[in-house]
This record gives sequence, C-alpha cells and structure tokens, in this order.
Amino acid sequence: MTIGIAVIGAGMAGKAHAAAYRVAPTLYDSTLPDLRYVSICDVNPEISQATARRYGYERGDTDWRAIAGDPGIDVVSVVIANSLHLEVVKGLLEAGKHVLCEKPLSDTLASAREMARLAQEASTLARIGLTYQRQPGIAAIRDWIRDGTLGRVHHFSGRYWCDYGCDPMAPISWRYKGPMGSGALADVGSHLTYLAEFLCGEVTAVSGGAFTTVVAERPVPLGNVIGHELAAVSDRMEAVENDDYATYTATFSQAAGSLEASRVAAGYPNGLAIEVFCENGAANYHQARPSQIRLYLNGNQPGANGYRTVNLGADHPYVSAGMPIDVAGVGFGQNEGFAYQARAFLEEVVGIPEERSLPRNASFGEGVHNMEILAAVVQSAERNGEQVKL
Ligand SMILES: NC(=O)c1ccc[n+]([C@@H]2O[C@H](COP(=O)([O-])OP(=O)(O)OC[C@H]3O[C@@H](n4cnc5c(N)ncnc54)[C@H](O)[C@@H]3O)[C@@H](O)[C@H]2O)c1
Repeated sequence: MTIGIAVIGAGMAGKAHAAAYRVAPTLYDSTLPDLRYVSICDVNPEISQATARRYGYERGDTDWRAIAGDPGIDVVSVVIANSLHLEVVKGLLEAGKHVLCEKPLSDTLASAREMARLAQEASTLARIGLTYQRQPGIAAIRDWIRDGTLGRVHHFSGRYWCDYGCDPMAPISWRYKGPMGSGALADVGSHLTYLAEFLCGEVTAVSGGAFTTVVAERPVPLGNVIGHELAAVSDRMEAVENDDYATYTATFSQAAGSLEASRVAAGYPNGLAIEVFCENGAANYHQARPSQIRLYLNGNQPGANGYRTVNLGADHPYVSAGMPIDVAGVGFGQNEGFAYQARAFLEEVVGIPEERSLPRNASFGEGVHNMEILAAVVQSAERNGEQVKL
C-alpha cells in the first residue's frame, strides 16, 4: 500500500503542510506505509513548481481539479483562503480523497455547516488542522488539568497578539476582506477559542464582544503576496473590511475567561499566550517557548511558593520519542506542530487505532462549533457586548 499526498495552496501555511508530510514518517518508528509525494498545487505556477521542488514532490499543479482527478493521490491538505475551502473540499471529498483542511473551516457559518454535512456523507476522512493543541506546553497543561495536578480551571486568560497588520503599507490580501469577525478573530482568534475549550471545556456563553479596525485602507500589491509579506505595492488603496482587534469574555460550565485577538500588536509577530488559574495552582504558556512553561502549585511553604520554569522533555507529550533528540531542552516550534498534525492524520487514514496513535485531529463538526462561538462573538458585538448563549 502506498499513500499519495498532495497539498493545495503553497503560501505561508501550505509550505508548512508540504514539509510536515515529509517529516511525519520520521517521527517515532515507522508504522506508516510508503508515502508518495505527488503534487503541490497553487494557482501561481512559479510557486507551485518551486514548492514542489523544495519539498521533493513529483510535480506542481495549478488547478485543484488535477489533484481531485488523480487516482494516485489519497490524502490532500487544503491550505488556501478560507472563502475557497468549501468548493475545493467538496470536490475532493466527492472524488474520494481524505482531506485535512486549514482553520477556520470556512468564511461563513453556512458554508462551514455545508462542509460538515459533506464530511458526514463522505466515505473518506475530513479533518481540520488546529495545530496548537500539539505544542508541548499546551498539551502538558491540559494533562495536568485533567489528572488533577492543576485540577479544574477557574479562570482562563488568553491572547493571540500578532503584528502583521501594524504597518499601514502591508498590502491588502484576503485576510482583510469580509465582515467584522472574519479578521483577527477568525484568523488567530479561531486558534485561541479552540485552545480555550481544549483546556476549560465547552464555552456556554460569550459576552463583551468588541472589534476595532485600526488601519482603514491598505495598498494593492503589485504582484502575488504570500502570508504576511511586505511586498511591493501600487498607489491604489482598498478598504480594510474586517477587525484588526477583537475581544470577548467566555463563560464555561465551571470557569470564565477573557480572550483577545490582534493583528496590530506591535512587537508580537506570533504572540499566542495563555494563562490558567486552577484549583491546585496555575500555569502559563507563550508561543515563543512552546516546550517551556511556568508552573505554580499551591503549597504549604508560606513565603517560599512561587512560579517555577519547567522545561518539557521526554516525559511530556510530543517531545517523548518523537524528535530525533528527544530530551528536555531541544526545543519545539510551530513547524513541529504541523509535522505531528500530519502524522496524526496519516495514522487515522491508514487505520491505526486511536489508542496507539497521536491524538486525532478535530472533525469538521468541531470546526463548525468553533465558528459558532466566533459568530456568537459577532452577535455580542452587534448588541453592544450583550451576552449570547451557545
Ligand atoms: N494552522 C496555522 O497555524 C495556520 C497558519 C497560517 C494560515 N493558516 C490557514 O491556512 C490557510 C491559508 O493561509 P496562508 O497564510 O497560507 O495564505 P497565503 O495567502 O499565504 O497563501 C495562499 C496560497 O493559495 C494560493 N491560491 C489561491 N487560490 C488558489 C486556488 N484556487 N487553488 C490553489 N491555490 C490557490 C495563492 O496563490 C497563495 O500562494 C487559511 O485558511 C489560513 O487561515 C493556518
């Protein structure tokens, strides 16, 4: 058995998927069948060809239908703008491909629900890549919440601060188009919202939804733009339609918390930070140090208690037996998260049972649930911060 792999979209995150499938079989002993790296597809032919060469895929395509129609391809990552997910995922599922789609599931709740319906009917797998659950610090904190070391979360504080929109000359792109809530909230707030539930359980209500757009218009780029690139721009401007900054308060069944998403937070290129305050202590995580956390455990040494730094190593999730050097201190980054995510997807595709596999990727149903929370934040903002129940 050989599994043929393709990636659609070779921009910022598409390259991470392309690389991740190469690394995936090298994590742990090989329990996967032979993998064939078939195609990287991008509407821009130069990008598809260059990315295929760079990551050792056989060819570059420019139309996703070439992937759907290729019987040699089994597994496909969909890594293009959110508004394009539905059409491409639909075509792939109908062609019998296993699909790993990027977050958020789509640009509208209606199309995300349609994708979940298609996934239910499909004979193949459809999963959504919410990569950060695999960062060692986040996985360890969740384990300590669940095994009682930290215990039940009382208070959650999370922020995903980025600075990619700080420069008003950063070119307009698909990220700046769409209604309020489709900006920073959907782009990075989707990750943060997923992690809040990963640690605290289901959100039951949101309130205090608020959005700001700081940069009202941005220049049109002269050529193709990838990710957050500061490319050459024309003197034509286009309106920024959605949120540069978003915030809300979440209520969980036994906790509450505040969440903030920003793309105009100067000095924070990728500032995902989380704190949990729990019945037996507290912990905090920052994306700059994914395999190092700060841990505080309630103790009986008045005057001597305090936060301590814990370097996660071979005893902790995602570091143990995965990377070539699997000891504390070797470090772990966002790209590794994609590799473990790809490995988890391939293990599920080939039927390795859940108890012998990495934690599964989220379902499209969970992707819809994530977007329902974001839609409730939009409703809350429209009603001046009123509470909206889920
Ligand atoms: N999980 C993460 O950490 C993470 C990080 C970044 C982006 N994302 C998600 O990944 C997706 C893509 O984001 P990005 O930042 O990589 O975007 P990007 O703009 O950098 O790249 C998108 C690429 O898609 C190509 N493209 C456009 N239309 C296409 C089509 N019809 N067929 C094939 N290719 C097409 C473009 O030419 C471009 O190269 C989004 O859903 C985003 O939310 C996830």
